[in-house]
Order: sequence, then structure tokens, then C-alpha cells
Amino acid sequence: MNILLFGAGGNIGSAIAGELLSRGHTVTGVTRSGKAEAAEGRAGFTAVAGDATDAATVARLSAQGYDLVASAVGPRVGAEDDRKIIVGAAKALIEGLTRSGVRRLVVLGGAGSLETAPGVRVIDSPHFPEMWKNNALAQIEALGLYRETTGLDWTFISPAKLIEAGERTGSYRKGGEQLVVDAEGNSRISYADYAVAFADEVEQSNAVQSRINVAY
Ligand SMILES: NC(=O)c1ccc[n+]([C@@H]2O[C@H](COP(=O)([O-])OP(=O)(O)OC[C@H]3O[C@@H](n4cnc5c(N)ncnc54)[C@H](OP(=O)(O)O)[C@@H]3O)[C@@H](O)[C@H]2O)c1
Repeated sequence: MNILLFGAGGNIGSAIAGELLSRGHTVTGVTRSGKAEAAEGRAGFTAVAGDATDAATVARLSAQGYDLVASAVGPRVGAEDDRKIIVGAAKALIEGLTRSGVRRLVVLGGAGSLETAPGVRVIDSPHFPEMWKNNALAQIEALGLYRETTGLDWTFISPAKLIEAGERTGSYRKGGEQLVVDAEGNSRISYADYAVAFADEVEQSNAVQSRINVAY
């Protein structure tokens, strides 16, 4: 597939770019800096500069023959307004893709809105880290915007509570609204295995117009 990926230079975006390239897809990686160092130089990859929060940019870039648009954008932690980037990107992606006519959108989300018990979300825990609250609230707002969108085939993929560097096992478990936890009750996944799940959804479209979460 020919894929346009916003946020391709990030911790998670570069893992997604790498996984898609290793499966033979063609990826154009978009960041504001125009840099996506981990993927640059790999066959099938092109880096371009662009702002995912600008609908005109999204429309212009996505109109260039892509089968699917993906996004893994996120603010620089502690240095940028979470809502401006995350909600701004959701709005611009919805508007931009509607204008360009690309229907399929797969986005990286957050874990804050997942349920740990009926009616109790991850973000409601008294132990939820204060420094991630605005980011999680912005992801919750973004999910709400996608849920109101009927004209696109979107998928919002929430990672586990803990997502970090680690090995690519190729395995993960998938859930819907309830947080997926392992036998010890932990919710975690490596960047590489999150990218496996993301690429599987890109290729298979199993969860169109819905949110899933992936963890070990
Ligand atoms: N458990 C959880 O819920 C959980 C855990 C981790 C992450 N996340 C979510 O995933 C997001 C991304 O995490 P990460 O660690 O991969 O972030 P990261 O390493 O900071 O990467 C963000 C990427 O997005 C790009 N970007 C930022 N704003 C952009 C814009 N307006 N247009 C185009 N590209 C833009 C950045 O490049 P430039 O700066 O060059 O534009 C960078 O490549 C987080 O913000 C969070 O919402 C959730």
C-alpha cells in the first residue's frame, strides 16, 4: 500500500514506519521538522515537512495518491500544548481527508479512556500520573471527534498504559473498550509490537469506525 504517515519521527511513529516498510509498503513520513531519522534512507520511505494540525496541508498531501493515511503525532512532552497538537490534528485529519477523498484513517490514541471496571476509566485512577493528564484528556477529546465522524473509515488504536522500547515479539492481544492486561494485571507493550498491531489493522481493516487497544 501507499501510506501517508504523520508523526513518523516519533518513538511510536518511527516503529510504525519501520514495521510498514519491512512489510513492503511505501511510506511518506510527515513531521513538522521534515525529519524521521529512523526510517530515512530505507527503501520505500520519503520524509516531507508538514503540519498535521493544518487541514489544508493534510488535504494537499493526502490528495497525492495514497491508499491510507495514518497518524502517530504527539506534542513534545512538557514543551507543547497537548490539546493544540492532538485535538488540532484530529480536526485537521478529519477535515483534510474529507476534502481529499481518502477514506481510510488509522490513528495512534491514548489509554486514558479505556475502562478498568464498568464506568471506571484509566484516567480516573488516583494514581494516574499528573504529567500525562492533559495529553490523556486531549486523546479522549480526539476520540470523541472521530466517533462523530461517519464519512471516514477511521480506527483509533490505544496503546497499553505502558508503551516503551523493547523487543518485537510479533504477539499482542486486542481489546475494545476494556483495558487489556496480562496475567499479572499489567498493561504494557513495546513500541515494536504496538507497531505490529497497527500495521495489522492497516492491512486488514478489522476495526473500521471503532477504537481498539493492544497490549500483551
Ligand atoms: N499509554 C498511553 O496512552 C500513551 C503512551 C505513549 C504515547 N501515547 C500517545 O502517543 C503520542 C505520541 O507518542 P510518542 O512518544 O511517539 O511521541 P514523540 O516521540 O514526541 O513523537 C511525536 C511525533 O509527532 C510529530 N509531530 C508533532 N506534532 C506534529 C504536527 N503538528 N504535524 C506533524 N507531525 C507532528 C513529531 O515530529 P516534529 O516535532 O518534527 O513535528 C514526532 O515525529 C503521545 O503524545 C500520546 O498522546 C499514549
